[in-house]
Amino acid sequence: MARPVDLQDDVATVLIPSEQIQAKVAELGTRVSSDYAGREVILVSVLKGSLPFMADLMRAITIPVQIDLMEVSSYGGTTTESTGLVRILKDLSSSIEGKDVLIVEDIIDTGLTLNYLIRYLRGKNPASLRICTLLDKPARRLVEIAIDYLGFTIPDQFVVGYGLDYGERYRNLPFIGVLRPEVYSG
Ligand code: IMP
Repeated sequence: MARPVDLQDDVATVLIPSEQIQAKVAELGTRVSSDYAGREVILVSVLKGSLPFMADLMRAITIPVQIDLMEVSSYGGTTTESTGLVRILKDLSSSIEGKDVLIVEDIIDTGLTLNYLIRYLRGKNPASLRICTLLDKPARRLVEIAIDYLGFTIPDQFVVGYGLDYGERYRNLPFIGVLRPEVYSG
């Protein structure tokens, strides 16, 4: 992959501008704060794509929260396709037994990764387990996932930015965008 002078030169369209993301994150933070009022929630984020969303969402929540981080990778597949076979690269640091857990995800595409994660975390007996995702791409869903908190539903397009990558690049773009076709072929 050639190195662009400016990452934004590789972007064909901005799907969701930064201001719109921030407004939505604030709204989600308010909802979480009110739904979990009087309780303490553990936000479990899945690296690396969910990092900016987690960082912004936790600061939009006004009740006490704890955070934990997991990292998973899918076996096989290509850069833009998921396989559903998941390997845990980094597990939880603390027990979630009897705790209220909210999974903070960047995007749900086929749903295979999250489906695996939900089963894995349920096995650890949390008091409750809910799902918060910034983006939902329902067109390609292979397993049903009940989303409790949703930022945006997007069309069946591969997106980058605000944590999401293509070949580990573009995570630092402040918006969600679609790359120019040449970027994939180059
Ligand atoms: P799923 O298992 O197909 O739902 O895929 C989930 C993971 O695939 C996400 O957490 C992302 O890491 C990655 N992914 C899915 N769609 C996109 C996309 O449009 N851009 C970047 N990464 C994506």
